[in-house]
Amino acid sequence: QQDPRIPKISSAIRVIPNFPKPGIMFQDITTLLLDTKAFSDTIDLFVERYKGQNISVVAGIEARGFIFGPPIALAIGAKFVPIRKPNKLPGEVISEEYSLEYGKDKMEMHVGAVQAGERALIIDDLVATGGTLSAAIRLLERVGVHIVECACVIELSGLKVCGANLIPLAAFSITVRE
Ligand code: PRP
Repeated sequence: QQDPRIPKISSAIRVIPNFPKPGIMFQDITTLLLDTKAFSDTIDLFVERYKGQNISVVAGIEARGFIFGPPIALAIGAKFVPIRKPNKLPGEVISEEYSLEYGKDKMEMHVGAVQAGERALIIDDLVATGGTLSAAIRLLERVGVHIVECACVIELSGLKVCGANLIPLAAFSITVRE
């Protein structure tokens, strides 16, 4: 049975057709942030799932993982580590490429932000193909971090979140959009 907070979170997320280009239904979480009850319920749902699991790292993916990740990290007593687009982090980085619909992109993380053996949760606002999450998983696993789970607010349905890209990891999401 679905948690009664979830439909309210879903309806607080605005969908903007044809943004940033024709055919894309943009999932706009800025309206969720305006609704203090729905926003705090969103954070609570993650915190309830992940507290007490000995997670020492919450890794948030640029850009909207930077909105949801830090309050979750503080609430479960973990540090927050940003995973960023190329050439944004000032220190020494490790990077992982991932495929886009056309071409490639890269995600970067500071060397020394995490240590081998730590337990991490990866947070983003949305999973579509899973390519971005997969790059984040590879980054953390390369330095010996154990990924407990990847969590997103929105999963675009019809896509295999737990498919080839993310096996053997479980992925959790609060809202599913048709
Ligand atoms: C969006 C979203 C995820 C990613 C999901 O970010 O916030 O990070 O796409 O797509 P995938 O599952 O197919 O990899 P976007 O690339 O728009 O970057 P931004 O957050 O910096 O705007």
